[in-house]
Amino acid sequence: MTHLLLVGAWPELAARLVGLPGRVTLLQLEGMPGGSDLTAYGRWAADLVTARWDQPAEILDIAAGLNRRDPLDVVAGYGEFALPAVAAISAQLGIRSVPGPVDQRPGKSVQRTLFAAGGCRPVRHLLCSRPDEVRAFVEAGPAVLKPDLGNGSLGVFAVDRTDQMEQGWRWVRGAGLGAVLAEERLSGPEFSVETRSVSGLHEALMVTEKFTSGPPHFVEIGHVMPARTDVDELKDEAVRALSALGHTDGPAHVELIRTDDGPKIVEVNRRLGGDRIWELLQLSTGIDVLRQVLLDALDPKPAAVGGDATAAAAIRFVHGSEAMFANGLPARPAEPIEAVEGLIRWRWEPTTYHRRLGYVLTYGADPTDAVGIAEQVCKAFPGYSPAGTV
Ligand SMILES: Nc1ncnc2c1ncn2[C@@H]1O[C@H](COP(=O)(O)OP(=O)(O)OP(=O)(O)O)[C@@H](O)[C@H]1O
Ligand SMILES: [Mg+2]
Repeated sequence: MTHLLLVGAWPELAARLVGLPGRVTLLQLEGMPGGSDLTAYGRWAADLVTARWDQPAEILDIAAGLNRRDPLDVVAGYGEFALPAVAAISAQLGIRSVPGPVDQRPGKSVQRTLFAAGGCRPVRHLLCSRPDEVRAFVEAGPAVLKPDLGNGSLGVFAVDRTDQMEQGWRWVRGAGLGAVLAEERLSGPEFSVETRSVSGLHEALMVTEKFTSGPPHFVEIGHVMPARTDVDELKDEAVRALSALGHTDGPAHVELIRTDDGPKIVEVNRRLGGDRIWELLQLSTGIDVLRQVLLDALDPKPAAVGGDATAAAAIRFVHGSEAMFANGLPARPAEPIEAVEGLIRWRWEPTTYHRRLGYVLTYGADPTDAVGIAEQVCKAFPGYSPAGTV
């Protein structure tokens, strides 16, 4: 029986270990950004071990010890902050990994070069070591500056004119996430393609429509599934990008903007989409993608599992003003919302991440319905602003 080492589970993922045909050891990473409950649902794993997230040597020691006792066949992680540990363990023990194969987790500029070589639509970009390089880039057209190793929209700044350049440079450098990458500013609606890859065969499971606060920082404010757009070109470009990176196994969350010249890649994340996108996928299609990716890791079978959406689901984030956040509200809705038809749940989970205070999750017959219900519920929160106060 396959022995899987799962790194960095969250409660809903760990709950999918129930009824799984394999032996799973759970490695929880203490202090991991975004949080990782150390013990929740550990009881469904064959074994539970912990290591400190920021101690790579400790993580490798623990994995090597486990492997001596009960040899591991595969190591998997499905969240951003588990990926460095997955790559290191796979390389050291010489075992299969998800995402696979492991790589050096190239920065966004190297990814751009690989996408272009793999036939994706080109996006002008330049890794800049000095502000005057950014200036020359911006003179050629509107740009987005972002950290080469960024995530969570940290340090992203749109620059339309050269007089905004210095502010943009400082903003990106302030995030402390690597060099400053300047990219051509892509205009158009934004989407993500949720994919599943097994032994080099890619399946686009669903296209998600994404809402952001727009320039200058493009903070995510919500998602709806299925996307209200023609999805074929988006799926094709996403699959091209996965092949270009050499990705063969595991879920991915591929972000794109549909420009007048067709869909162009924003970035590829070789993991499940965050923001409960896996729950939207289950609500709109019935596919339990969390269970599916665990099955794929245990027993890779490239057969397609997807199907068309039979319903729609949306998530909206409630962002707070500085004052709301500082006062530590749990603001309650001003009017009762519990009985709103289509509301699955709202959660108040304040985080300093762009002052996000919580989320509203809804279900509808179609995407417009699901988005409408989410907006209706959000408006019931005192101080809610649709564009996010970010
Ligand atoms: N070249 C670009 N043109 C237009 N918009 C862009 C561009 N690059 C990034 N953006 C916007 O900024 C957002 C964040 O950029 P990106 O996804 O590269 O950073 P990130 O920090 O990895 O974000 P996240 O983790 O939130 O997905 C994108 O979702 C998009 O809205
Ligand atoms: Mg992104």
